Amino acid sequence: MTSYVAAIDQGTTSTRMMIFDHSGRVVAVDQKEHEQIFPQAGWVEHNAEEIWENTRAVTAGALAKADLQAGDIVAVGITNQRETTLVWDRKTGKPVYNAIVWQDTRTDRIVDELGNLGGGQERYRPKTGLPLATYFSGPKVKWILDNVDGARARAEAGDLLFGNMDTWLVWNMTGGPDGGVHITDPTNASRTLLMDLDTLSWDADIAGDMGVPLSMLPEIRSSSEEYGKVRPRGALSGVPIAGILGDQQAATFGQACLSPGEAKNTYGTGNFVLLNTGTEKVMSENGLLTTVCYKIGSNDTVYALEGSIAVTGSLVQWLRDNLGIIRNAAEIESLARSVDDNGGAYFVPAFSGLFAPYWRSDARGVIAGLTRYVNKGHLARAVLEATAFQTREVIEAMNADSGVPLKSLKVDGGMVVNELLMQFQADILDVPVIRPVVPETTALGAAYAAGLATGFWKSEDDIRNNWAQDKEWTPSMEAKQRDEQYRNWKKAVTKTFDWVE
Ligand code: G3P
Repeated sequence: MTSYVAAIDQGTTSTRMMIFDHSGRVVAVDQKEHEQIFPQAGWVEHNAEEIWENTRAVTAGALAKADLQAGDIVAVGITNQRETTLVWDRKTGKPVYNAIVWQDTRTDRIVDELGNLGGGQERYRPKTGLPLATYFSGPKVKWILDNVDGARARAEAGDLLFGNMDTWLVWNMTGGPDGGVHITDPTNASRTLLMDLDTLSWDADIAGDMGVPLSMLPEIRSSSEEYGKVRPRGALSGVPIAGILGDQQAATFGQACLSPGEAKNTYGTGNFVLLNTGTEKVMSENGLLTTVCYKIGSNDTVYALEGSIAVTGSLVQWLRDNLGIIRNAAEIESLARSVDDNGGAYFVPAFSGLFAPYWRSDARGVIAGLTRYVNKGHLARAVLEATAFQTREVIEAMNADSGVPLKSLKVDGGMVVNELLMQFQADILDVPVIRPVVPETTALGAAYAAGLATGFWKSEDDIRNNWAQDKEWTPSMEAKQRDEQYRNWKKAVTKTFDWVE
């Protein structure tokens, strides 16, 4: 009998279930989008119960498409949008508030106040590898406990649980109020601002600063081990849940970036470049994050340097949904090809402030260089180019931190089907850009973590052997043109600063 491994990818805009065979090929996929809730400028929320419903629907959907039963699946892995923060009641399973999404900037005051306790933005970097920023979970938990009626008292009484989306799904999949396991893995925990990067445990001092009771935090397990089995009523009933990786770390794993010096860039709602630094924890001096890359069972922890960019693919969605200039995401490429260049326009999408390498919550988006000449084709180009310029900024920071210039970049995610963008990316970076045959590396990485824990795959060599190249783009832009465009981009970035007082 042929067996398979499944992965649930709970992303920012949708939830997917994917089933993989032993060679790492996709056997079936089912996907559902969920509502993006924008209650006011800078706020972004998700309905966690809708996400759980969608997870159940796509799980059943993917199994049905492949004509498989729970008995055909040897393990399931979970991967998820990181940092998105949920607090729920352990007895009823009801969230006390919507999930506050990673892009949400409502915690900017809280973040400033924490910095004012001493140390400013760098206060927690030595322990957590992260600057103080609205991006991370800890201040979002504090916001919920401070603002939802009665929440702090209930949390202190031990009635409330915190989790990112991995924790929420695993808790529900294993029984919810009825014996659900309350766990996470170090890749997710390392994004809360509450975890000590050396010990992989919660830091009581930081949790104290943020007023977060330790009793509401999940147990931190490894990224690859059997945590429990799916509850009897689920479509995957009885299948072991055996892998958890935050989505960007999962993509790194799925891209087989398993040795120090290997890096990938995922083009999703945002872009996230991760460089595997091995068992060495490299502290960034250039605006990057130090984060856990993965921890496989009892093996040593592997760390990464990360360049997080908040807005890339979501800018294309914005063009579609808020301006109506395109009808679907695919149309942006033909629109951009209707002109030869950006016509002098540069679009810096600082919708959530700017993440790496700036970490400026006071920044807001700008379109610079406008003249009467600029048309929607130029704007489409500027939107695509913004992704490539932002990527160059984080790669430059990475080169400076590691001292070793990147020689090529492995890419994955939704936008890598865009040939114009991929060529421009290679041109602006001046290094080759390489796309693998299976671009679904996020789900694949979580499947690998689960399959390794259950012996479906024997070792990381299986992952390396499964990786295959699809296409490579080589740089072809003149240095003069590259430098001039990048200079213009940098100038446009300076126009985003100091917008929010
Ligand atoms: O840190 C946020 C990141 O995990 C979100 O990824 O793919 O859902 O946009 P994605």
